[in-house]
Amino acid sequence: MADRFRGKTVLITGASSGIGESLAHVFADEGARLALTARRLDRLETIREALTGKGAEVLAIQCDVTDRAALDAAVAQTAESFGGIDVAIANAGFGVTGSFQKLSTNDFRRQFETNYFGLIDTIYAVLPYLQASKGRLVLLSSVAGRIGSPWNAPYASSKFAVTGLAESIYYDLLRDGVSVTSIEPGYVESDIRMTDNEGRFRTEWKDPVPQWLVVRRDPAARAIVKAIYKRKPQAIITGHGKVFVWLARHFPRTVRFVQRQAALRMKLPAELASRFGEE
Ligand SMILES: NC(=O)c1ccc[n+]([C@@H]2O[C@H](COP(=O)([O-])OP(=O)(O)OC[C@H]3O[C@@H](n4cnc5c(N)ncnc54)[C@H](OP(=O)(O)O)[C@@H]3O)[C@@H](O)[C@H]2O)c1
Repeated sequence: MADRFRGKTVLITGASSGIGESLAHVFADEGARLALTARRLDRLETIREALTGKGAEVLAIQCDVTDRAALDAAVAQTAESFGGIDVAIANAGFGVTGSFQKLSTNDFRRQFETNYFGLIDTIYAVLPYLQASKGRLVLLSSVAGRIGSPWNAPYASSKFAVTGLAESIYYDLLRDGVSVTSIEPGYVESDIRMTDNEGRFRTEWKDPVPQWLVVRRDPAARAIVKAIYKRKPQAIITGHGKVFVWLARHFPRTVRFVQRQAALRMKLPAELASRFGEE
């Protein structure tokens, strides 16, 4: 166990599963005090029990990031209980997917309400505390925030927006001493690909991504915590993610050719075809 965040307070949105849950474990091992927020309080309570069993101080707070009042209350409760906030991780998110022709403006709005405006409200709610602590702000973007792909328009455009936001406010917050880290994972083990376009986790769904490509969430979380500690402006998480971004930057025509073939010829796996109504 390292001790890089001993006595620091870390607030995580979307901590009830996946990357957020693993981040909570890694930060607890690093000595941090934790405020875990999400909509599913029962899940947060289970995680809180596991972490307090390891000796961590943990708050579990129900909070929907599309509700600014709930965010303000969660942030105030955290700061009051722990005396401030040093690290805020805007991690809550989900994916609206499918072919553009079958989606609607409302699907895009719903996606942006959580993945983009939920993140903006998280930042505004927590910023005074980060300014006071000269803390660390962390935004969960994605490799999909750098590379468009078929059947992914709402999610990719929300993450392109997050990447642009992170790269811009990095400069705005410099004078306040607040660092901004854009975390851009490739495929990481989580519930995200089993969550529907309304943001509901579907137990009956399977991950359509081949498991050899999916990186375990604990090593991914350790790599994220390292980048946060170093106040890196950007961290692409997963080897395949780094390769995709590098190829897209240096060989854009090749990447476009491959994606065109996929869009025109690829037969969707049955799992995705039924989700997208493409049978
Ligand atoms: N896993 C990947 O392959 C991958 C790749 C690139 C980027 N990411 C990003 O990583 C972040 C975490 O996702 P994950 O992969 O760990 O997926 P996940 O297991 O589905 O976790 C998503 C978390 O977000 C929370 N959440 C969703 N909507 C919310 C809302 N309106 N208010 C508050 N919390 C909300 C969920 O909790 P509740 O349902 O309890 O609210 C859950 O804790 C997301 O921003 C995602 O886009 C993931």
